[in-house]
Amino acid sequence: MKVKNICCIGAGYVGGPTMAIIAQKSPEINVTVVDINEKRIAAWNDPDVEKIPIYEPGLAEVVAEARGRNLFFSTDVDAAIDAADMIFISVNTPTKTYGMGKGMAADLKYIELCARQIARVAKNDKIIVEKSTLPVRTAEALKRILDNTGNGVNFQILSNPEFLAEGTAVTDLHKPDRVLIGGDLDTEAGREAIQALVDVYGHWVSDDNILTTNVWSSELSKLTANAFLAQRVSSINAMSELCEVTEADVQEVAKAIGMDSRIGPKFLKASVGFGGSCFQKDILNLVYIAKSFGLNEVADYWEQVILMNDHQKRRFAAKIVKTLFNTVSGKKIALLGWAFKKDTNDTRESAAIYVADYLLNEQAEIVVYDPKVTKEQILADLDYLGTRSEEENRKLITVVNSAQEACKAAHAVAVMTEWDAFKTLDWEAIYEGMLKPAFLFDGRRLLDKEALTALGFEFYAIGS
Ligand code: UDX
Ligand code: UDX
Ligand code: ADP
Repeated sequence: MKVKNICCIGAGYVGGPTMAIIAQKSPEINVTVVDINEKRIAAWNDPDVEKIPIYEPGLAEVVAEARGRNLFFSTDVDAAIDAADMIFISVNTPTKTYGMGKGMAADLKYIELCARQIARVAKNDKIIVEKSTLPVRTAEALKRILDNTGNGVNFQILSNPEFLAEGTAVTDLHKPDRVLIGGDLDTEAGREAIQALVDVYGHWVSDDNILTTNVWSSELSKLTANAFLAQRVSSINAMSELCEVTEADVQEVAKAIGMDSRIGPKFLKASVGFGGSCFQKDILNLVYIAKSFGLNEVADYWEQVILMNDHQKRRFAAKIVKTLFNTVSGKKIALLGWAFKKDTNDTRESAAIYVADYLLNEQAEIVVYDPKVTKEQILADLDYLGTRSEEENRKLITVVNSAQEACKAAHAVAVMTEWDAFKTLDWEAIYEGMLKPAFLFDGRRLLDKEALTALGFEFYAIGS
């Protein structure tokens, strides 16, 4: 079958960019992205395409090209489900914050609500595609809900995990390392559904890069990929601490091991800790799944990746306190960057949140500058932790509009996100405006140690 109408439920960081590219590359397919969040949909429809709710390099151009032609954003979920032959589920699957599996398992309530809604609305056969990262065997639960509450129509369920990284979503989608499609390879209907999705990607991805597997392998591959990537970051971060107490430099170590073709050079950048909506959530989920099968050694092994990451964030904050003569009480500390990595306005699980929280507990005054993150978001992130009252957060945190302003009269500056623009700041002027000794903490190995030390900074970088 040829897909003519696609619906995507969830207009977030995954659904929005993915559907924009599918629409751009498949002009004969109508793609409707729906969301219950009216503000978000209004932003996707903003006549000023720069105001779409997600910042990704190149995305505004893609949306400008396809929107209104064959790419639509709407809050009418039922209508879009009804019209679609293929439905992507791209809603959020946060870690559960209550009840069984609290703090570990993925909360599937949004997925289940989608499934029930699809079952209620659908009047003809549909292919359902899991796009959100889901625990292994979610497809089974989806299928049971769809088959038992539906109107007697047939559903084929595919798993098509998204591997795009934020900040590079458009290039990742245009040139994916691979597209993974899991489905029911054992039945004719299953193979047809897989082929229908292969044909969608076939508009711009070559056959060699499209991998088809059974549903469970596909679901587990997504969790595994994220666990391996996060593990590399925790491994190099563990080495960064060892480097700091020896005469080794983590960047030199990373380069040396990365040239081993079995290890490879990517994802070996020491940092203040990984963030983002996926790594921690997916590993916790993996740990939970392993434990639920009684595989305690497997669970413990992967849990270490998270423990190391928590340690890295804490030790960076503690380093600031120790260096500032064991107290930051009443001292102004500037945090440059709040996003969990450069080129995105996403702050979920960003290390900056935890470092700020730690320093606030030490009674520091925090001033934040991030080129893409709003003040509301920064305050919301801290409020969400629940460490102190919303009033206190507003009293202790200031958000400003430039790095220069953030650093004025500060005791210390800490680089939290590797925004390119931070490299070319007027560091001399920043130094002049700071209290002395002027401490600079580079949580991203972004800055030139020699040049900044020459300017007079007391300079600390992760891993050296
Ligand atoms: C290793 C390093 O590869 C080499 O660079 C270093 O100089 C010495 O240690 P070696 O022990 O000779 O070399 O063999 P290697 O090929 O690395 O295998 C080590 C063990 O890992 C073997 O038992 C091998 O069977 C096992 N292995 C390796 C796996 O189980 N799976 C793999 O994917 C790779
Ligand atoms: C990740 C996966 O890369 C992607 O395939 C999956 O679809 C979603 O999760 P994302 O979270 O967007 O993507 O960003 P990623 O580039 O993987 O970075 C995650 C975190 O690790 C960031 O905080 C980043 O700063 C950190 N990181 C990454 C390091 O600290 N060092 C590195 O070498 C790489
Ligand atoms: P991701 O990073 O996985 O894309 P986001 O949180 O950015 O996650 O996006 C998920 C989106 O899904 C949110 O905008 C949310 O409003 C939307 N959503 C959640 N549940 C439903 C639902 N039942 N129907 C429609 N949209 C939903």
